[in-house]
Amino acid sequence: MEKIRVRATNRSKQTMAHTASSPHTRNDEITTRVTRGARGAAPRLTYRDHRFTDEVARATQPVWERLHGLLADVDWLLKAPIIHRIIQLKQEKRALILAHNYQLPEIAYGVADKVGDSLQLAQYAAALNEDDAPVVVMCGVHFMAETVKVLAPERTVLIPDTAAGCSLAESITGADVRLLKQHYPGTPVVSYVNTSAEVKAESDYCCTSSNAVRVVEAAAREFGSPRVLFLPDRYLAANVAQATSIEIVAWHGTCMVHERFTPELIRELRAQFPGVRVLAHPECPPEVCAEADFTGSTSGMIRDVQTSGAAKVVMVTECSMADNVAAENPGVDFVRPCVLCPHMQRITLPKVLTALETLSPQVEVDEKIVHAARRAVERMLAVSPLTPFAP
Ligand code: 13P
Ligand code: SF4
Repeated sequence: MEKIRVRATNRSKQTMAHTASSPHTRNDEITTRVTRGARGAAPRLTYRDHRFTDEVARATQPVWERLHGLLADVDWLLKAPIIHRIIQLKQEKRALILAHNYQLPEIAYGVADKVGDSLQLAQYAAALNEDDAPVVVMCGVHFMAETVKVLAPERTVLIPDTAAGCSLAESITGADVRLLKQHYPGTPVVSYVNTSAEVKAESDYCCTSSNAVRVVEAAAREFGSPRVLFLPDRYLAANVAQATSIEIVAWHGTCMVHERFTPELIRELRAQFPGVRVLAHPECPPEVCAEADFTGSTSGMIRDVQTSGAAKVVMVTECSMADNVAAENPGVDFVRPCVLCPHMQRITLPKVLTALETLSPQVEVDEKIVHAARRAVERMLAVSPLTPFAP
């Protein structure tokens, strides 16, 4: 397996090295250009109309203030006009943008209305009322958009790239769950939120990384069962099993990002960066979580950075998140073993813009599946306290 690359950044040095003044005044004629790959490949950027004008500079100044130090100036000059147009379209179409913590800074800070972990995004979708946005864009992966559709079926739910999947969600189908239920009659099924709506529809409860133990115990209690079927993440299942006396029967799915971390890597990081606080996501193998100082959801890790007082941190998870968290915590040094989720990375500003312009691709879920999946998600929400979004 390819070795994971590690880099360490010190935010205060990074900020000093990067000009804190806006680049607006220097290059206000730069436009996005069409570039061609070798041998006449298709153009890759087609946003020629979106120029960096004075109006763009003025309107995007607050975004620049959050993003400087995270984007190179030239990157900003290319992206600001797209951010500006997305913000205009959000108002015109009364659209709301929800983003997962793994999204790129220009999405999380540039255009999103709410950024959170899977539970927070589901809680937000469930709390939408009639007067709220009729259009929701999910900057995350497909199961997250489906969960919004399940909770708010009357809304137009858009995902900027339908190929933004998830190795866990793809590891199991509704038919697999039906077979499992035949083998374990009367045993409640708890499905991780990283599953299709079809799988949720076959499940009794849904759960996320931040409430899995609580949900497993609620399911076992409600069904009077000493065991639960826990799908599809075998590592999350093993981590849950260590925290409860309920017997866990697991599926064999894994997250293609978190399965790559090893206990040896954590030990090497501790040797190389003495005093570093190690935060792990529970999709990591249990041996990795055993080496960590804290294990929790993506938002749980962010809260830990904000409250632990640690001066040096490594987040053992998808590495885009460290950029966002570093921006909000300038006094903390981040050690970054970099593994990217190729699915999350599919969501880009130009795709968000196209989704809003065309109101597509829309996420559709069959009415019967919406009904059954919603029951599993609502059961989870009923036992999960609200977790506030980071400011
Ligand atoms: P969180 O719910 O912790 O944000 O995790 C979602 C996910 O896909 C992690 O890989
Ligand atoms: Fe799925 Fe892993 Fe990507 Fe999260 S990081 S979306 S679990 S593949």
